Amino acid sequence: MRRSLILGVGSALPERVMTNEDISKIVDTTDDWIVERTGIRQRRIACEGETTRSLGAAAARAALAHASVDAAEVDLVIVATSTPDRTFPATATQIQSDLGITRGAAFDVQAVCSGFVYALTTADALMRAGQSNCALVIGSETFSRILDWNDRGTCVLFGDGAGAVVLKAGEGKGTVADRGILASRIRADGRYADKLYVDGGPSTTGTVGHLRMEGREVFKHAVTNISSVMEETIEASGLKPSEIDWFVPHQANRRILEGTAKKLGISEDKIVITLDRHGNTSAASVPLALDAAWKDGRIKPGQLVLMEAMGGGFTWGAVLARL
Ligand code: COA
Repeated sequence: MRRSLILGVGSALPERVMTNEDISKIVDTTDDWIVERTGIRQRRIACEGETTRSLGAAAARAALAHASVDAAEVDLVIVATSTPDRTFPATATQIQSDLGITRGAAFDVQAVCSGFVYALTTADALMRAGQSNCALVIGSETFSRILDWNDRGTCVLFGDGAGAVVLKAGEGKGTVADRGILASRIRADGRYADKLYVDGGPSTTGTVGHLRMEGREVFKHAVTNISSVMEETIEASGLKPSEIDWFVPHQANRRILEGTAKKLGISEDKIVITLDRHGNTSAASVPLALDAAWKDGRIKPGQLVLMEAMGGGFTWGAVLARL
């Protein structure tokens, strides 16, 4: 059976660190409030010249180096982002060009914070269908550029960054002992579009707009949606939650990710948490967390990793892979 193997991971973060203390000089908030409600202590903010494309390309290069794969082998580039450099062309085509790749396909996926899970699922489907042999899946965001820096309810939550993985086609026996992506599920329910959205766009206001959110409403749906899609994904693979080695969740809010882990009976020491350092980097958060735990030696080859995310739309999904 054809499988998509995850061979390497990489990330890139802007130089500039913004602490909760720094934010308290911009809006009426405190370090205590932000830490207690979210777990976030600091985030990175892109400076002039740092963009979704430049961060994404840097993360992609790091992932290729980690996987020992040459860019010339890549025949598919997917970028998950809601903050592209331009409305078009897709940031993926620009990163493809930055890496000197001139063949295959390149496109963006827009599923907000679930973007990386959507992109990974798409790449896996194309790879198993024989349309790609080597793919770069990138999550890259500069949310600082769509935040309303007068709105304390949202500007304290997000940060900028990028993460990427390299996938290569391989053969497996079709069992859970295979390496690679074992199962994934993606979901959406557009009835909740006005709970988390950007109030601008090319076809409506002709502007980029700012992020708007009903935080409590998002919170209410998050644990239920994420835990149900995680359960479905684990069940589809034939494994049990207790067999998962590492839970690599979207880094939105510590209470959400601990709540979902608890619901599935995944113990706290198996959760990879980076939101204290990165905040919510939307589509970049899962690969950034994967990079942190793989590079510091916690995640080892052969282990089972469960990734999940939920975001605007609402969209949500999960991917289970053996590294
Ligand atoms: N600093 C201080 N006070 C703040 C604040 C801030 N940064 N942001 C909001 N508040 C205040 C509110 O004004 C409100 O004050 P009031 O009671 O006087 O009206 C109070 O804190 C409670 O606000 P509320 O929005 O109900 O807080 P909450 O406990 O729901 O926490 C979030 C807010 C945003 C942290 C929480 O709802 C959340 O994390 N939601 C999910 C968001 C998310 O993950 N989004 C991304 C999904 S991809």
